[in-house]
Amino acid sequence: MGAIFQSLGRTITAGVVILLVVMAVAGTYAKLGDMEWWRFFFRYLHVLSGVMWIGLLWYFNFVQTPSMPKIPDEQKPAVSKVIAPTALFWFRWGAMSTIITGLILATMNNYIGQALALQKPFTAIGLGMWLGAIMWFNVWFIIWPNQKKVLGIVTVSPEEKAAAAKRAGMTSRINTMLSIPMLFCMVAQQNAGL
Ligand code: HEM
Repeated sequence: MGAIFQSLGRTITAGVVILLVVMAVAGTYAKLGDMEWWRFFFRYLHVLSGVMWIGLLWYFNFVQTPSMPKIPDEQKPAVSKVIAPTALFWFRWGAMSTIITGLILATMNNYIGQALALQKPFTAIGLGMWLGAIMWFNVWFIIWPNQKKVLGIVTVSPEEKAAAAKRAGMTSRINTMLSIPMLFCMVAQQNAGL
């Protein structure tokens, strides 16, 4: 048992095995030919991806950034050279997976055009999709390019590095702000929240 939890890969595999058992017990396999089930399944993949993305966004904003000034200078590289690059990897690919599964879901739901045009009754999810798309753009085209300068993946002058850190930090804060209404709109569509 202990061997499972010593490896992240084995831990995730164990989670999937439990899910497959739950599905077997619940008789879910009989529904696999059903389009409605796949629509549900893409919602599930979408929410899993969203948790990875927004979980790390909130980790940066609630934990890492406020803790940095309290860490002695000689220990800071542990965060900037080890933790941050790994967190940023899962963060940006979480964002990519969220937007892809979200767009597939909107297509499967047959409302992608109406939602993006903010037409009723899809205004809630349309707003959520636009907010999510702005946040995805910020991750891939502002936060990540600037973080590459901060982390030294792209070599720049110290002044440019400081400016890049400020730009990435501000944009990360903007995404944290947008995550509040975005998530409300996501959940509102099915639950008459807007
Ligand atoms: C980036 C662009 C995004 C797009 C295009 C998108 C698209 C969608 C769509 C089409 C739905 C189905 C709405 C419905 O008919 O009920 C949905 C639901 C949802 N999305 Fe997103 N989404 C995005 C970002 C996010 C993010 C970042 C999260 C964060 C966790 C998220 C969490 C959710 C949740 C919790 C639901 C509700 C699922 C349910 O009630 O069954 N989405 N999204």
